[in-house]
Amino acid sequence: MSLLQGQTGLIVGIANERSYAWFIAQEFLRHGGRCVFTHLPGDKNAHRTRRSVEALGVTDPVLIPMDASKDADLDAAFGRYAEMHDRMDFLVHSIAFADRQWLAPGKFAETPREAYTQAVDISAYTLLAMARRARPIMARSGGGSIMCMSYYGGEKVVPGYNVMGVAKAALECTARYLAWELGPEKIRVNTISGGYLRTLASSAVGGADAITEHVEKNSPLRRNVEGGDVGKTAVYLASDLSSGVTGETVYVDCGINTLGL
Ligand SMILES: NC(=O)c1ccc[n+]([C@@H]2O[C@H](COP(=O)([O-])OP(=O)(O)OC[C@H]3O[C@@H](n4cnc5c(N)ncnc54)[C@H](O)[C@@H]3O)[C@@H](O)[C@H]2O)c1
Repeated sequence: MSLLQGQTGLIVGIANERSYAWFIAQEFLRHGGRCVFTHLPGDKNAHRTRRSVEALGVTDPVLIPMDASKDADLDAAFGRYAEMHDRMDFLVHSIAFADRQWLAPGKFAETPREAYTQAVDISAYTLLAMARRARPIMARSGGGSIMCMSYYGGEKVVPGYNVMGVAKAALECTARYLAWELGPEKIRVNTISGGYLRTLASSAVGGADAITEHVEKNSPLRRNVEGGDVGKTAVYLASDLSSGVTGETVYVDCGINTLGL
């Protein structure tokens, strides 16, 4: 199947081969999509992202440095993309950041203003910032699909997820407002609420073993999510199969969110 044949887009958030964005890129490539990638500035980050992308079989990948908390970086990255491609069919936002010092049970009420605003800025505002820059490129090729990654801790309390939960609530709401405003230009905006996956970002949140044990024992599918589960849903959201779907949060968590206790 080549559900993304002829499509080109930008994937933001590959740090290594465990990143959710890496699994999304793997499925996009499998379905014929062409991907441009960003990485945090710095040689070490560039090297790590390059190695991960090459492991997907992409020889000579296009990698653009971008710290999404900086407007100048965002302008330069989307500008560079637009110089290379006259269309953007998909944009994957798979980034988040919060100072790990505040990601432990009992620490939420202590979160300083700066840590709170930084978490919301990098993890949620950047979706709006990227969507604004993607909009003209997507609009001139007849639309596109924007997606971002959330977690259930943005809806219900997951002890220790703390300020990241606040940021995810903001992210999901940002996606809905963007969906409404960009819809007339045939740009769809959706959120994937993914289950727990061991990655660099998730290692900052305590209690992983308790979460994975609980999900394995109690989720409807009696297992934890794999990166590929999210990758395949991302293909659906990027492809014409989801042509009527926007402003939605799609859960890819083996069903654990459906439980009442
Ligand atoms: N791993 C999980 O359990 C899980 C579950 C649900 C949702 N998510 C979400 O998935 C997304 C990807 O996280 P992941 O788990 O794959 O971890 P990851 O550490 O592999 O990816 C996080 C990415 O964010 C990037 N990033 C951080 N600050 C940035 C900035 N200022 N500018 C640009 N990029 C920046 C990092 O470089 C990294 O590539 C995040 O939004 C995360 O909250 C993760």
